[in-house]
Amino acid sequence: MECVKEYQLRNVSSHCSISEMDDYDLSKLLDKPDKPRLNIERQRSFDERSLSELSIGLSRALDAYETAYSPGRSALDTPVSSARNSFEPHPMVADAWEALRRSLVFFRDQPVGTIAAYDHASEEVLNYDQVFVRDFVPSALAFLMNGEPEIVKNFLLKTLQLQGWEKRIDRFKLGEGAMPASFKVLHDPDRKTDTIVADFGESAIGRVAPIDSGFWWIILLRAYTKSTGDLSLAETPECQKGMRLILSLCLSEGFDTFPTLLCADGCSMIDRRMGIYGYPIEIQALFFMALRCALVMLKHDTEGKEFIERIVKRLHALSFHMRSYFWLDFQQLNDIYRYKTEEYSHTAVNKFNVIPDSISDWVFDFMPTRGGYFIGNVSPARMDMRWFALGNCVAILSCLATAEQAAAIMDLIEARWEELVGEMPMKICYPAIESHEWRIVTGCDPKNTRWSYHNGGSWPVLLWLLTAACIKTGRIQIARRAIDLAESRLLKDSWPEYYDGKLGRYIGKQARKFQTWSIAGYLVAKMMLEDPSHLGMISLEEDKQMKPLIKRSSSWTC
Ligand code: GLC
Repeated sequence: MECVKEYQLRNVSSHCSISEMDDYDLSKLLDKPDKPRLNIERQRSFDERSLSELSIGLSRALDAYETAYSPGRSALDTPVSSARNSFEPHPMVADAWEALRRSLVFFRDQPVGTIAAYDHASEEVLNYDQVFVRDFVPSALAFLMNGEPEIVKNFLLKTLQLQGWEKRIDRFKLGEGAMPASFKVLHDPDRKTDTIVADFGESAIGRVAPIDSGFWWIILLRAYTKSTGDLSLAETPECQKGMRLILSLCLSEGFDTFPTLLCADGCSMIDRRMGIYGYPIEIQALFFMALRCALVMLKHDTEGKEFIERIVKRLHALSFHMRSYFWLDFQQLNDIYRYKTEEYSHTAVNKFNVIPDSISDWVFDFMPTRGGYFIGNVSPARMDMRWFALGNCVAILSCLATAEQAAAIMDLIEARWEELVGEMPMKICYPAIESHEWRIVTGCDPKNTRWSYHNGGSWPVLLWLLTAACIKTGRIQIARRAIDLAESRLLKDSWPEYYDGKLGRYIGKQARKFQTWSIAGYLVAKMMLEDPSHLGMISLEEDKQMKPLIKRSSSWTC
């Protein structure tokens, strides 16, 4: 019960906050290391357009928000408690906080992360007793939103130290900048010592290094900075170096003809073979977001400047490539369907020589007249048209999607609600692959059978990303609908890792219970809806210099 009390106390205090700076100011401030810590105060950080749309469907939560933050009135002289106490939190919230605190991992008495799952009933622990970098992100956001930044700072510093380790797989040395997928704290009660073991892919099933970890680390560093106003952490030589090492891995020159990042299967949240090798949307969207976050945090010193220049060039090329070639809507699909093939030279319309016959049947029915999305993968003669949740949500949050594309993604989610959300938000990807294709693509993976786990399973953790995308695009009703669905089951089912089935009705075949990111994801979604200003931690404003180069549906010809 103590945790519950603690939560309520924290919930009524006003110290969790978003600093007053916008991204532009942040980069200016970073130039001046002696700038004093910013006086922190909540502010609206989502764009005005979404604010005006939000206020149309005024809800209790938003009423509370408006009352506390109405223009001309300082948030400081209106205790947040009065607004917050005007409605009862859902009873699940207290349980979720209690479960989240139970998952804390300590290193020498300091909290440094949360374990993936606290499921004592499960016979197999595997690596679910470890702190995963990607899994910790929603936990970190929940703590930041609740005014508890210390654990996030500890985590950022601890993983930074791990980055410095020499990493080997058999006799092969991994890139210096690689961040671990996960780490574990070993307590020796006799010697009273704590030690850490980390996994950079050398123990992971499939032996793949996580490309997403470094990107999430940069994104989290910005979230911490934005939330606390404490610029000093990002400015330390250690953090600056950590960022540069990650960036040198992904900005290095090679034989690539595309600005996207070439990846092995299983290098992200989908960490088993699922046919996402090549240029998966999840990694491209995180890459884009991490580049933009690094851009505002890198110092303009000699080393930093060189990276800043490389980032700016890459962002320019990457946004063009993604918005042009990964974007699919009704018109685009129809154009591809009618493509000529075997074209040569610069005048080619079908640049990657996609054979129309390779388009799967399902996509013709799935594509609504209104709406669109970034497809799963684009490479020579291959367009993986599967829809992936994480990549599309991150594309919205990072403004990789133009405002028009962001709205179209939300239109599609609404139009295909049954397929993408069904009874549990939300599908990791759509549709599932089955039969012969499943055999070939997954290598007969029994964990990834159709509509299960990574193969069309429903993952409650994605709720926070969906909610953030909804707030950013001003589509609050969609978030509310999704949260209602989650609330009808998550606690009752003991916070499963994932659900199975076409509608996500069944607790996943091998799903862990008390999966931490399912718990934290729910809390983050609730807190953002209650106070949309939290969105600023995880969302970037449109970069005016990166004007959309294309119009929807006309991309293929430019
Ligand atoms: C599974 C998931 C991965 C997650 C890990 C820990 O391996 O595929 O995304 O990070 O479990 O929860």
